[in-house]
Amino acid sequence: MKAVILVGGEGTRLRPLTCNKVKPLVPVLNRPFLEHVVDYLKRHGIRDIILTLGYLPEQIQGYFGDGSDFGVNMTYLVEGFPLGTAGGVKNAEAFLDASFLVFNGDIFTDIDLTDMMNCHHEKKAATSIALTPVDDPTPYGVVETDAEGRVERFVEKPRREEVATNMINAGIYIMEPHILGYIAPNAFFTFEHGVFPSLLERGEVVYGYPSQAYWIDIGTPEKYLKLHHDLLQRCTADKGVRFEGESFVHSSARIQAPAVIGEGCSIGKDCIVKGPTVLGPQCRVEKGAVIEGAVLWQNCRIGEKAKLRNCVVASGCCIGEQSEVLDECVLGDNVIIGKGNRLSRGIRIWPDRSIEPNAISF
Ligand code: GDD
Ligand code: MG
Repeated sequence: MKAVILVGGEGTRLRPLTCNKVKPLVPVLNRPFLEHVVDYLKRHGIRDIILTLGYLPEQIQGYFGDGSDFGVNMTYLVEGFPLGTAGGVKNAEAFLDASFLVFNGDIFTDIDLTDMMNCHHEKKAATSIALTPVDDPTPYGVVETDAEGRVERFVEKPRREEVATNMINAGIYIMEPHILGYIAPNAFFTFEHGVFPSLLERGEVVYGYPSQAYWIDIGTPEKYLKLHHDLLQRCTADKGVRFEGESFVHSSARIQAPAVIGEGCSIGKDCIVKGPTVLGPQCRVEKGAVIEGAVLWQNCRIGEKAKLRNCVVASGCCIGEQSEVLDECVLGDNVIIGKGNRLSRGIRIWPDRSIEPNAISF
């Protein structure tokens, strides 16, 4: 089976992390997010991958090339203007002659695709939509099904009073090729507002595939941080601390699991690095600094006695001595925080900004 991954969005809600980098290349445990998705598809036997791209396509093409380094065949379809989720897949029609998978490019999940494919064929569905439970369905697409699981209604971004179930569209579809006949070429069209409602009107067989498996979309920095915390708890649970290459750790420094430490880091005297935390390659943590529950990209410098807690710090940032970056704060690339600042309550700083010493205490 071939997979079409939708990666045309600008990732606006993930800014400032996506100011210089497209969402699929944002690192998760020090590897581009999309690499995790490719591994997942491979585990389910999918090796032919078509990417529908819009925003900064050359970044993704430059990284994955023809896919051979990653054990897959990658085909790229670049949109001159945004074609929407369905318009992008219509563009791939020439490559799709059998049941195919569509995957939103910002989803991390363990949903059992192999079982989903089997159910799709057993039910002779024209389209199957993976469903996942969430606490608040309003930022998603709500999918109502009958007792057998056949889809009866689809409401994208429902108002609170429209929410009849907490099962939402997980952004994973298996489709039969004739569905593409319902989509006009070279025009903006979405599955969520266009294709799905029209399939139901036409009486096409659309099934939900409910799953309780792990599922998260990395739409916002809060979710990005949560994905890290979840993965760290999971993949390092027994091993504790993973060093990805050689690093220097002072004998008095303490590193508490779960943590991943990129290659070439330096962790100084009396520092505490407390999991769940990821340090990107070449980070330098100076004397007495404390890092807890944080995600750092590469080449960051954390000054003496600085404190980082539950935050995301992109590449090349410098945190001045005794500064604090706390509570879901997010710093874009190359931000400089002068000494003695205190940033909390989810402050986001755009790339290349500098904050004077002792300027912010929030
Ligand atoms: N090629 C292409 N062209 N891709 C696009 C375009 C486009 O014009 N617009 C969006 N995409 C891609 C995005 O990059 C993303 O991977 C995917 O399509 C979904 O777009 P989002 O912007 O992330 O949508 P959403 O998160 O608000 O909602 C969607 O996902 C939810 C699950 O996370 C919907 O499918 C909801 O129904 C669903 O519940
Ligand atoms: Mg999304």
